Amino acid sequence: MSHYFDHLIIGSGLAGLAYALKIAEKNSGARIGILAKRNLNTGNTELAQGGIAAVISESDSLQQHTLDTLTAGAGLCRADVVEEMVCQGAERIQDLVNWGVKFDTNSESHSFSLTREGGHSARRILHVEDHTGADIHSHLLQKARTFKNIYFLEEHFAIDLILTQDAFPYTLGKNVCIGAYVLNKVTQEIFAIKAQKVVLATGGAGKIYQYTSNWSGATGDGIAMAFRAGARVANMEFMQFHPTCLYHPQSRNFLISEALRGEGAELINSKGEAFMKPYHPLGSLAPRDIVARSIDAEIKKSGADCVFLDITHKSETFLKSRFPAIYNRCLSLGINISESPIPVVPAAHYLCGGILCDSAGVTDIPNLLVLGESACTGLHGANRLASNSLLECLVLAHNAANSALIETDTSIRALEISPFPSQEHQISDELIVVSHMWEEVRRLMWNYMGIVRSNRRLERAKTRLKYIEQEIQEYYSKSQIHSDILELRNIALVAMLSVRCAQMRKESRGIHYNIDFPLSKSPLGPGVDSIVSSTSYYKR
Ligand code: FAD
Ligand code: SIN
Repeated sequence: MSHYFDHLIIGSGLAGLAYALKIAEKNSGARIGILAKRNLNTGNTELAQGGIAAVISESDSLQQHTLDTLTAGAGLCRADVVEEMVCQGAERIQDLVNWGVKFDTNSESHSFSLTREGGHSARRILHVEDHTGADIHSHLLQKARTFKNIYFLEEHFAIDLILTQDAFPYTLGKNVCIGAYVLNKVTQEIFAIKAQKVVLATGGAGKIYQYTSNWSGATGDGIAMAFRAGARVANMEFMQFHPTCLYHPQSRNFLISEALRGEGAELINSKGEAFMKPYHPLGSLAPRDIVARSIDAEIKKSGADCVFLDITHKSETFLKSRFPAIYNRCLSLGINISESPIPVVPAAHYLCGGILCDSAGVTDIPNLLVLGESACTGLHGANRLASNSLLECLVLAHNAANSALIETDTSIRALEISPFPSQEHQISDELIVVSHMWEEVRRLMWNYMGIVRSNRRLERAKTRLKYIEQEIQEYYSKSQIHSDILELRNIALVAMLSVRCAQMRKESRGIHYNIDFPLSKSPLGPGVDSIVSSTSYYKR
């Protein structure tokens, strides 16, 4: 059995939904399919707290936002992409408003209430209290449901992309993406979905690390699928660690938004001393990489388990209305943030690298687009400026939909696709092995490819991952397809790609800090990105 959509969108987060809406608004005849491997509401978008960056205020400027992004990116951003994304800010915010999002406004002026986060030289973050992502997502989903030509497939796991040369081995010419093999997790059926445009909007890969702010499905599936299909990935060493995740035995991935520091919260150590100023003149509001490394150093120096974020100078009334989700979550764990500092630690948060593409999501593989956190457009360079990622999702979706609309090749619909290659199905009862391998990958990434790296640790990570990858491959070829195994296969590959990129970079830059190359190369010279292609990777 195979299905057909004009646009097959893999991912129901902000990137996928914005693309679907843009296409549906202009072409009511297009068949649009949106896949989600769990329910439609789960993903990193749902978790976004701080907000979305855009130049709205008259006291701000496009030049300042551009400069802040370039500064955070530590010399690795693509300047033309930065300029394009920043310039579209106000228009993309208007899209969200048109789709029903109501950002917080100031009670007197009714203008948007703008907050600040690390690395921003002006107040330019629009927000909906401290649950911006969930609010945006629910409005976009509601809007998408009003279109009859948008079809939702929940609990459908995309396994691999289908290329013309898989379906027709003797085809000459360029290998084109024509769909994906998909597992229906409810019926366990695997089938092909053909599409004129395949859009990877599968999000990030925080789950390759033991501690992360990400949702449990952030396993880099799109990146792994695209790489296996022959697309290049780049800058995978740049996993951004968020400095302040809640440190509590009952909650290891809840984020304490940077917006608290934007409202004056101070990082203090276990002796109650504010420790950031000696590390950076901006103190607690220094760029994220610096804050995360300083916390790491402070914890190592003191032997304490965590540091603390102190916002007790703000009133309970203010905290309850400005940060209701954080206030309530902490209170449910016995921490009243208006009275006591919040225990925090850094955790893997945002992948700046991903599938190489341009600012319209165009990848190396014809008909395959990538949007959102899976993409590497060059906006973030070596370190993402806070709240730029939601903006990037919107700009990419807008640009990609504009270029996808004008193409009308529907010949793919008629193609016969071979069924998914069958497995040997010898092992089916040992899912515990899968969870052991999951833990192993995530722990070794945390220990050897964490906030501070060294050549020796990276080599150790590579050696162990190579071995685990082989084991997984063997297990995968003999076991019944299950989403846990599919995710394991993907995290192992994405972890390995990250280590490979880290080893290529013989310097420290932005988020990537290697004690054996503590300085940044200057000048950077050509070949600034760490790029891995499957041709070189599978030769190793
Ligand atoms: P996601 O929203 O993660 O969606 C991924 C989708 O892909 C899901 O629907 C999932 O089911 C689907 N999927 C994945 N793999 C498969 C598969 N194999 N088959 C089928 N479906 C699949 N950014 C900001 O700009 N501002 C913020 O304030 C902010 N706060 C954040 C707070 C937290 C705690 C986190 C984790 C991130 C935050 N970010 C923030 C980053 C931002 O939220 C994400 O980068 C962005 O939402 C990613 O959107 P996306 O559409 O690319 O992916
Ligand atoms: C936060 O609210 O601190 C997260 C913002 C971001 O990751 O962009």
